[in-house]
Formats: sequence, structure tokens, C-alpha cells
Amino acid sequence: MAWSVFALTLVLGVSCGRPPVTNRAKLERQEAVERHQAQIDPPAINLSNSSLQSFCQQRLDHFNKTNQKTWCQRFAVDDSFYQRGERSVVFLCVGGEDRPWGTSGWPHLQTCNNMVQLAPRFNALLLCLEHRHYGGYDFDAVPKFDLEGLHFLSSRQALEDVAAFRVYAAEVLDLQTATWVTFGGSYSGALSAWARLLYPDLFHAAVSSSAPMESQLNFRGYHDVVASSLASPHVGGTPQCLATITKGHAQLRELLRTTLGRRSLEKKFNLCGHRPLDDSNNVAGWAGMGVITSNQYNNNRCSITSCNIRLLCGNLSLMSEALPSELDALVELDRFQQEEAVATGAVQSVEKCKDISWNGYLESLQIQEKRTDGSNLMGLWTYQICTE
Ligand SMILES: *[C@@H]1O[C@H](CO)[C@@H](O)[C@H](O)[C@H]1NC(C)=O
Ligand SMILES: *[C@@H]1O[C@H](CO)[C@@H](O)[C@H](O)[C@H]1NC(C)=O
Ligand SMILES: *[C@@H]1O[C@H](CO)[C@@H](O)[C@H](O)[C@H]1NC(C)=O
Ligand SMILES: *[C@@H]1O[C@H](CO)[C@@H](O)[C@H](O)[C@H]1NC(C)=O
Repeated sequence: MAWSVFALTLVLGVSCGRPPVTNRAKLERQEAVERHQAQIDPPAINLSNSSLQSFCQQRLDHFNKTNQKTWCQRFAVDDSFYQRGERSVVFLCVGGEDRPWGTSGWPHLQTCNNMVQLAPRFNALLLCLEHRHYGGYDFDAVPKFDLEGLHFLSSRQALEDVAAFRVYAAEVLDLQTATWVTFGGSYSGALSAWARLLYPDLFHAAVSSSAPMESQLNFRGYHDVVASSLASPHVGGTPQCLATITKGHAQLRELLRTTLGRRSLEKKFNLCGHRPLDDSNNVAGWAGMGVITSNQYNNNRCSITSCNIRLLCGNLSLMSEALPSELDALVELDRFQQEEAVATGAVQSVEKCKDISWNGYLESLQIQEKRTDGSNLMGLWTYQICTE
């Protein structure tokens, strides 16, 4: 597992934990990247559904004593490395905006892979705990997805879940005297650290990777981290690579200023619809986080550009040598990444045109009661980052 590489290069933004996705096409491409990642870095905990357990006394509302409602929070136990003894160690993978064990699709195990690597050295018992609402397909086990239910989707409630689970698990798994350490990356990295901060009596230590402890609205600092990764030889970047991307986007910004420029961009990038770039929401959704898929989850074993900075920069370098401008290189890379998405099975074929519609994006965020396949995830996550 390439955790050391992740640790160096995980970058975080306003949509920390999930890549910054701003329209449907990007969302689909990002999902493809994640599926691809999951294949090369298989889930840390690989359990069938039957070995998942549930904690059904988990409170729905930890801050209102008169609300007695409970829900069933699932957790996974892996004792492959565990040795019970005087000084038992428990590693708890704190779930973030996805199931931490990744049974189907969507695994986000980068956040806890280092826990699995460390387990043999500490003979640790591995536990993974899902985050409320993000359990996905097992619909009955999560609080309701209606507006009333969403009220209970917050990091503050989730932290109380972690603490309550710790007390429960210590009892049912006979781990009272064990040393507990929380793990997480990105959003769940923040939860991991906050759990230790709030409950030092329950958690001995926390591993908190790439956690946005002080995230901000319109988090520009995110891009600084992206930029330093793209320029860093340690993770396959080069200063020239960053320069190409920077210049390409500067050229793009110039073209966005004029009517003729926008028409030219629509053609270059093969955008769908009638003059989509005249709508500032479309522009923000498409270009606000950059027009190519760079790396939130860099992995030197990944075979496509969207999750491997070395391949991204390698291809971009060839393209910018062959083409008249840096912008043209971005156009070419964008096209290339669409082909990669086809190759990884994300989409059936290269789209006829690129849909950057803001309304389409909003539609894709609709949370639906009966969708139990993980497709509510972006809607739930967007709800959470907007409300927090
Ligand atoms: C995970 O479990 C499935 C089903 O038992 C199995 O097919 C797969 O090879 C396992 N993956 C790993 C990495 O162990
Ligand atoms: C787990 O259960 C879900 C729904 O009950 C099913 O779709 C999925 O294939 C199951 N996964 C495994 C590994 O059995
Ligand atoms: C607390 O829960 C009770 C019972 O569900 C409910 O009637 C009340 O409105 C809640 N209070 C707050 C402040 O949410
Ligand atoms: C370009 O990306 C592909 C993966 O799509 C990779 O196989 C190839 O090695 C990359 N080329 C360079 C020069 O990095």
C-alpha cells in the first residue's frame, strides 16, 4: 500500500475528503478514479456483509435528552492481527463520508490503510465504524434522509457517535483495559483528532492524516497544496508541470473575459448546449476548481493520470511540447482523461459533448429516500459541508 505517498500528497479543499467535484461529468469521472483506486489499493478491511455488526442503541440526537430515538450503526471487526493481553491495542478507523470497509464501489480506504500496516506491529484489533447517514445501501441502518433526518447529519453528532461506540464496544468486545487509537484521513482525519481532543479519557492517541482542522469558506489554500504537489518531484511532479497548468488556466481566464473568447473555449473543450459559458454558474462549476482532474488521491501505483501525478505531468509535458499553447495542452489532457474514463469503465464512451450545466449538477445532488447504492453520497456530503 502506498500510504506514504498518500500522506504526502492528499490535499484538501472545501470539499475535503471528497474531491472537489463541481459538475456531473466531473463527478462521474471522479467516481471512476475512485473505483480504479479501490482496485489497486483494496479495502483495508474486507468483510462480507454478514461479518458486519450493529450497534443499535446509538442515539439519533446526542444533544437532546428528550429525544430517545436510536439507530443501528454498523461496524466491522478484524482480529487477524489481534493478541489479547495486558496491553491490548485497538485501532479504530473512524468513518467519514463513506463506508470505511468498502464492500461495494466507493471504498475510501486510503484514510485508514496506515492503520492496517501498523496493526501487526502492535497486535492491534481493527475496528471500523461507519459515519451516520453515509452507510449508503443499508438504508434501514442510517437515520432517515428526509429533511428532518438530515438535521442530525453533523460532525458534532458523529463525534458523539464515536464516543458512545467506544464505550459500547469496550463492553461487548471486552476491551475495557485496552489502549484505543483513532485513525482517519481528510474529513475523518479531523474527526479522529477531534475525538481524541474531546475524549482524552477514551482515546489514547489519534492519527489524523491530511485533516482540514480549520477549513474555510472558499478554501483557496486547497489549491496551494495542489500546486505544491504538482511541482514536487517527491510525488512525481515538476515545476514545469505546475507552470504549464498555471499558464494554461491564466490563458483560459483571459478568454473567459470576452464573448469571442468564450465561444472559442466552448469549441475547444467541446461543451454542450448553447453558449454555456455565458452563465457564470456554469463557469464556476466547470473552471472554478480547474478544468482538468488533478490529484486528490495521488498514488504512484495508479495507472491513469487522474490519480498519478507522475503520469499527469508526463503526459502534460509531451502535450505542451507538441501544442502551441499551455491552454491547448490542458484541452488535450482533458480529452485524454475522458478516454481514460472509458478505459477504466467509468463511462461507456467518450461523451458527445461535455456537460457543464450547473442545473444538471444540482440535480445530481438530489437526495432520494430509496436510493441505496451510494448515489446519495454527494448530495449528503454537499449538505454537510454547506451546513458546517
Ligand atoms: C475481498 O473479499 C472478496 C470476497 O470474499 C474477495 O473476492 C476479494 O479477493 C477480497 N479482496 C482482498 C483484497 O482480500
Ligand atoms: C452486501 O449486501 C448488499 C445489499 O444487501 C449487496 O448488494 C452486496 O452485494 C453485499 N456485498 C457482499 C460482499 O456480500
Ligand atoms: C427534543 O426532542 C423532543 C422529542 O423528540 C422534541 O419534541 C423537541 O422538539 C426536541 N428539542 C429540540 C430543541 O430539538
Ligand atoms: C500518460 O498516461 C498513460 C496512462 O493513461 C501512461 O500509461 C503513460 O505512461 C503516460 N505518459 C507519460 C509520458 O507519462
